[in-house]
Amino acid sequence: MAAIGSVTIDPPLILAPMAGITDSPFRRMIRSLGGCGLVTMEFISSEALTRGIGKELGKLPFHQSERPISIQVYGSRPSALVDAAKTIQDMGADICDVNMGCPARKILKGSAGAALMGDLGLARRIIRSLRKAITIPLTVKFRSGLRPPQINYLELGRICEGEGADAVTLHPRTAVQQYSGQADWDQIARLKQELSIPVIGNGDIAIPDDAVRMFSQTGCDMVMIGRASLTNPWIFTQTASLLETGTYREPSLSQRAAFVRRHVEILTQELAGKELLHKLKVFTGKYTHGLPGGRDLRRRLTQIHNPQELLSALNAFFDNLVG
Ligand SMILES: Cc1cc2nc3c(=O)[nH]c(=O)nc-3n(C[C@H](O)[C@H](O)[C@H](O)COP(=O)(O)O)c2cc1C
Repeated sequence: MAAIGSVTIDPPLILAPMAGITDSPFRRMIRSLGGCGLVTMEFISSEALTRGIGKELGKLPFHQSERPISIQVYGSRPSALVDAAKTIQDMGADICDVNMGCPARKILKGSAGAALMGDLGLARRIIRSLRKAITIPLTVKFRSGLRPPQINYLELGRICEGEGADAVTLHPRTAVQQYSGQADWDQIARLKQELSIPVIGNGDIAIPDDAVRMFSQTGCDMVMIGRASLTNPWIFTQTASLLETGTYREPSLSQRAAFVRRHVEILTQELAGKELLHKLKVFTGKYTHGLPGGRDLRRRLTQIHNPQELLSALNAFFDNLVG
């Protein structure tokens, strides 16, 4: 049975943190399908959190049904990260994760995210300060390195373990690679051989069979899935079934329609205006990938400017599909 510190992760499958995506409604929808052992929040700026910025604070609340939940913080000042981690612990998060892998220019400019892979001394100080400050499990998520030839994931992994982190996640691409090329799963295998704390493998799981392959090729303890969960939210329950029984089922069109309608219902209850429209477009755009007529619907969505119109188009699409 997989665990991160005292938190059992069963099944050993994790929803990856995705800014703008893994908000509470999406996490609840993923939970409703089962098969996911841990959900993660979109990353939280330690600087914004410690200054009490409303937008950042607004991301923090979660439902008990989402647990276990990991909240990820980013930043470069150890004292701000410590304050943020304490806030997260006080809120009842099960795990605190630190981002040392974000390749976005804005984050790198603030010496945070993957920039910390270019300053392992600071990365060490951050992990050490956090370990002293909180009692909940602490994890670190990182990439292969900042840019070639500086591929230092093994060194950072050893620092994490030495400073008392409870697990690490590796997305084996460099920061300059962003999402191009292929994730190098051999690096996950090497990290697993190097460390005794749990290693979470991440990168390029497109279908359940990929996750099973990642477990067997790398020996990793847990698998984290990001982008594929948007086009196929069933990927966790399917992978859990594949691991357990060797087979899994595809959702029917009516199950898909019910899932999208339920998510849309939650979003319309909890959001309004531009934010609502934006989220509706993001999720319905992804959910309709691969469905007959999905491309036409997505083209229409780009021309829609109010939530009501979007809901009508979506209802018509699914009525037509399910019959
Ligand atoms: C839209 C989007 C937002 C992301 N935001 C974060 C984030 O906030 N923190 C983080 O550690 N990784 C973030 N990631 C990276 C994912 O957690 C994951 O490492 C990456 O997508 C590779 O996994 P995948 O191939 O399963 O998608 C993000 C990825 C995407 C696509």
